[in-house]
Amino acid sequence: MSAVLKDAPRLVRMQDGDLAKVMAIESAIYTHPWTGGNFGDSLRAGYQCWTWRLGNELLGYFVLLVAAGEGHLLNLSVAAARQGSGHGSKILKEAMRLARSCGAQRIFLEVRPSNLAAKALYGRFGFHEVAVRPGYYPAHGGREDALVLTLAL
Ligand SMILES: CC(C)(COP(=O)(O)OP(=O)(O)OC[C@H]1O[C@@H](n2cnc3c(N)ncnc32)[C@H](O)[C@@H]1OP(=O)(O)O)[C@@H](O)C(=O)NCCC(=O)NCCS
Repeated sequence: MSAVLKDAPRLVRMQDGDLAKVMAIESAIYTHPWTGGNFGDSLRAGYQCWTWRLGNELLGYFVLLVAAGEGHLLNLSVAAARQGSGHGSKILKEAMRLARSCGAQRIFLEVRPSNLAAKALYGRFGFHEVAVRPGYYPAHGGREDALVLTLAL
């Protein structure tokens, strides 16, 4: 195998054994992280749960639900130390490819209005806002709306 291929990050199905590392990343990058139970439930429910790895290092992950021709991107995360290096874009591309291959014609996701990095990432891919869910997220000192974004695949 060439050095280039060996050094390229790749998508690997998430397993129960990944949850400690996933939770370490999750807890470090969100004010209100998913719990281990949320990931465990997603795995057991058969959602598309994938990690993005460079060798043994977990760079990021996503959780995707595809049903009735629609994909819902429930979680997309990059480890704090690896943000800003193009991994979020690559993981998003992989999630979109997978959604398409599972029969989705459209993909939806929710994002906090205050999450400027994520909003910029989704905007670059052509996502647009279709709805607001008022008070959807817990937030410090109250609740925060969710913007619902979508993109035709
Ligand atoms: C949002 C997130 C997934 C982006 O991943 P990333 O690897 O940092 O993104 P990339 O390096 O691929 O950057 C892609 C684009 O995202 C935007 N972006 C990324 N970081 C940004 C930042 N700190 N501020 C503003 N825009 C940012 C930019 O548009 C960037 O394109 P550019 O580099 O050409 O300007 C990552 O910041 C993350 O995991 N954040 C915490 C978890 C989270 O908020 N997930 C999304 C929930 S909806």
